[in-house]
Amino acid sequence: MLKEMYEQPKTVTDTLMPRIKDGDIVIDELNMSDEEIKAIRKIFIVACGSAYHTGVTAKYVIEGLARIPVEVDVASEFRYRNPILEEGTMVIVISQSGETADTLAALRESQKLGHKVLGIVNVVGSSIAREADNVMYTWAGPEIAVATTKAYSAQLIALYLLAMKFAKVRGKLDETTFQELLEDLKRLPAQIEMLLSNKERIQRFANRYVGAKDVFFIGRGIDYAISMEGSLKLKEISYIHSEAYPAGELKHGTISLIEEGSLIIALATQPKLYQKTISNMTEVRSRGAKVMAITFESNKLMEKAADYVIYIPETDPYFANSLAIIPLQLLAYYIAIGKGCDVDKPRNLAKSVTVE
Ligand code: G6P
Repeated sequence: MLKEMYEQPKTVTDTLMPRIKDGDIVIDELNMSDEEIKAIRKIFIVACGSAYHTGVTAKYVIEGLARIPVEVDVASEFRYRNPILEEGTMVIVISQSGETADTLAALRESQKLGHKVLGIVNVVGSSIAREADNVMYTWAGPEIAVATTKAYSAQLIALYLLAMKFAKVRGKLDETTFQELLEDLKRLPAQIEMLLSNKERIQRFANRYVGAKDVFFIGRGIDYAISMEGSLKLKEISYIHSEAYPAGELKHGTISLIEEGSLIIALATQPKLYQKTISNMTEVRSRGAKVMAITFESNKLMEKAADYVIYIPETDPYFANSLAIIPLQLLAYYIAIGKGCDVDKPRNLAKSVTVE
């Protein structure tokens, strides 16, 4: 897992760079004309596990940049609920292995309803890659550790590229902003590298929380999507109970679980929501919780609002997941190692879930 985490700068580069040509985004494998892109009325994203979390992130990015409504569903729900796929709906399935039974079934269900499916897949020639109408490969290379890291990072890049492409074609992004976003994307590999090489602070923090019983991840918007993946990584490999909540939902129940010493990880990478998340952090701290915040270097508000702060370098807030997830992967990894867990083969989990 550690090896694959450290491959992320390369993975991100490999998924990104071949699709940037002369200052534009070129995704030949989409096989869609500008007219077809303009005709999209809705996007349905279907996936499982971490791939589902990249879909939740993509909902915020695609809706924000391209202003196309996006619905995200877990494949095991989608396939049995007689989904409404109206004309003009584009279906995207996301899968590292390309073999996940529920995701494959969702793809077939969509095709049966007369919709073309775009697969975002890592394993070349896998079932989903073969059956999807079009395939956009994530070039992450073989991923062996059960808990995904580098394929997750590659999926995010593929989805950002789609969001920007759609936004540009549909006239929602001016050229200057488009170029600025491209520059931000190109900076991600070096920034991920930097976060991976500054692991000591996270390692020290992880050592203190090896005995944690419950950990809560909170955030709003994209920060909620990042929270979901951070929480999943932790529970998958360290067996510590953890949950992710939209920060504003805490007071509707979960806050009753907060007690002296509870650990809260607060994601704060969306400047418009900083103050809102800070009020939730204040609520849990006043009940005795310790809060670790993950935020941009430029945000000095967290020094007072949190007990510990992990900083990520600046990028456009739409791309924050790609950076914020790195300390969360490291945290899960070092806590699991501290507990003596087999991080590469966690109990009860399979890398590829080919049965229901
Ligand atoms: C399993 C893996 C997860 C993965 C999920 C979906 O549960 O342990 O890491 O996110 O399946 O897999 P896929 O191959 O479709 O991305």
